[in-house]
Amino acid sequence: MDTQIARTENEETTHEVVKTAVEELQKGNVVALPTETVYGLAADAFNPEAVAKIFEAKDRPRFDPLIVHVASQKALREVADVPEELRKIVRTLTELFWPGPLTLILPKNEKVPDIVSAGLPTIGVRCSKHPLFAEILESLGRPLAAPSANRFGRISPTSADAVMSELEGRIPLIVDGGACARGLESTIVRVKVPEKNSKGKAIIQILRHGPISADELKRYGKIEVVSNDEVSDNAPEAPGLLASHYAPQTPLRLLKDPKDFKAEAGKSYGLLSYRGKKKDGYLNLHPWDEIEILSPGSGKTVEAALRFFFILRKLDELGVDEIIAEPVSEFGAGAAIMERLQRASVK
Ligand code: TXA
Ligand code: MG
Repeated sequence: MDTQIARTENEETTHEVVKTAVEELQKGNVVALPTETVYGLAADAFNPEAVAKIFEAKDRPRFDPLIVHVASQKALREVADVPEELRKIVRTLTELFWPGPLTLILPKNEKVPDIVSAGLPTIGVRCSKHPLFAEILESLGRPLAAPSANRFGRISPTSADAVMSELEGRIPLIVDGGACARGLESTIVRVKVPEKNSKGKAIIQILRHGPISADELKRYGKIEVVSNDEVSDNAPEAPGLLASHYAPQTPLRLLKDPKDFKAEAGKSYGLLSYRGKKKDGYLNLHPWDEIEILSPGSGKTVEAALRFFFILRKLDELGVDEIIAEPVSEFGAGAAIMERLQRASVK
């Protein structure tokens, strides 16, 4: 299959690109689309054959459920049945954070085919802020199932070229919307109300850290973080949050203490540095073959987040034998970067 990249340069080409993408989706094909987090591989969520093509193109196991994207807060009810007791917290969160990088796990509406949720009674729903994604979704007039547009377990793509290197020959079309503004996948939360006292404060369980931090969410409910350790490789509630993910082809090691580093003779090393500061103890540890810095200078987690997958992909392609990653500050989006580093790290 020949994979085309559709580029948008002005209003006229944008109109053409939107039209082409919508036609492909209507035909039951998959299209890679930009979102503000990472590029997604989209298909009509109500068409099970189209959704099956997502799993095939990504080599994704069928037990790993997809996120569904809706056009607005109102459109949520097309895919989810929000129980009475959760309406208030769902309304609050969607009003504040949609469109944006927050995914809610909610009871699934029976109209959504089982292949989308991998047979689970729940569904992940979000509303993307990317103008091209929003326009395509709106003109299609149907929700879009879209996981990140990478092959299963690999680095998420944050540019059209990165999608090309992941899925060339496997999908017909990539819509180029430029580099993704946030650079990390959405924060995934499950909301609950305490059983005994449904008038009490809601519980917001973070299943995947992302651009919306626990700090931003804690005003609206009691935060519980479901740690990676609790999410085993076959935990039925979050089957896709597998322990190993986001992995470059080059082995990566998250080095929490620089003192633990011992170079092996003849091996080449690349350093994934947080802010490129000598005083952090990593820069002068070894004559690194390659060094890439996430946020040079004082280290800003928002900048590190938006460059993270791009830089990781670059280091992976430079051909070193091992990537050594510095920890980043856990502030704001930093928790999301650390989660990905932990899961990319060789166990
Ligand atoms: O930012 C994002 O969320 C991107 C863009 C494209 O929207 N999408 C994305 O999708 O990251 P994906 O499939 O790469 O990651 C979705 C994660 C998977 O780990 C999946 O297992 C989990 O969400 N998930 C989906 N539905 C779920 C459910 N009902 N219960 C628990 N986890 C679920
Ligand atoms: Mg993914």
